[in-house]
Amino acid sequence: MNNPIIVALDVPGAAEAWRLVEELGDAVRFYKVGMELYAAEGPAMVRELLARGARVFLDLKFYDIPETVKRATAQVAQMGVSLLTVHGSGAVMRAAVEGRGTSELKLLGVTVLTSFDESDLADLGYPCKVEDLVTLRVRKAVEAGVDGLVCSPLEVSRVREIAGAAAVLVTPGVRSAGAATGDQKRVATPKEALRSGATYLVIGRQITRAADPRAEALRIREEIES
Ligand code: C5P
Repeated sequence: MNNPIIVALDVPGAAEAWRLVEELGDAVRFYKVGMELYAAEGPAMVRELLARGARVFLDLKFYDIPETVKRATAQVAQMGVSLLTVHGSGAVMRAAVEGRGTSELKLLGVTVLTSFDESDLADLGYPCKVEDLVTLRVRKAVEAGVDGLVCSPLEVSRVREIAGAAAVLVTPGVRSAGAATGDQKRVATPKEALRSGATYLVIGRQITRAADPRAEALRIREEIES
């Protein structure tokens, strides 16, 4: 079975990132680089991960005028990154689809940030329920031609119904039973998330803060396969 685990490299710099990557070895071959590490180390970090044979999910959640999104996405596609996030606005997603052209890069739409509730939407001038906006944006993502979505494990089955069997659905907020949830409020176990339709699981602290990250990653893989 393919390994569905993507480890979130939520660390402040290259030294910490390489320590983790080396410890994890072949237990994990897919890493998420987000804003913090990218702000610190830039594309050099991504290129080096790729050069070492890892796959990279670049979680930069692009949101800008279409021309800028298109050109920035083309740069990411050229690097050889596997997954990139863009915000779920129709124009932004269409621009990203243009930018990645015929490359292998797969685009993931971000529907509504999980830290947002109805009052945050009202603050933006959107008088609607979070779940209705998620549904609308999943439909827009499919129309725009992006490959998949980031979604919580609790909404993944609904998103799968709308987005279809081919969509790449990536779920953070995953924890084994008994593991510390940290600031995550809406969690599911890795197995539940996969059973509900997730393609990949983004796991951060449960692995990166474990006493033995490699053993923890292998244990989660067994848990999934059992
Ligand atoms: O440490 P933990 O497993 O909670 O990390 C989850 C990762 O997924 C973090 O990089 C976090 O920013 C990201 N994420 C999330 N919830 C979202 C989107 C991204 O936890 N809705």
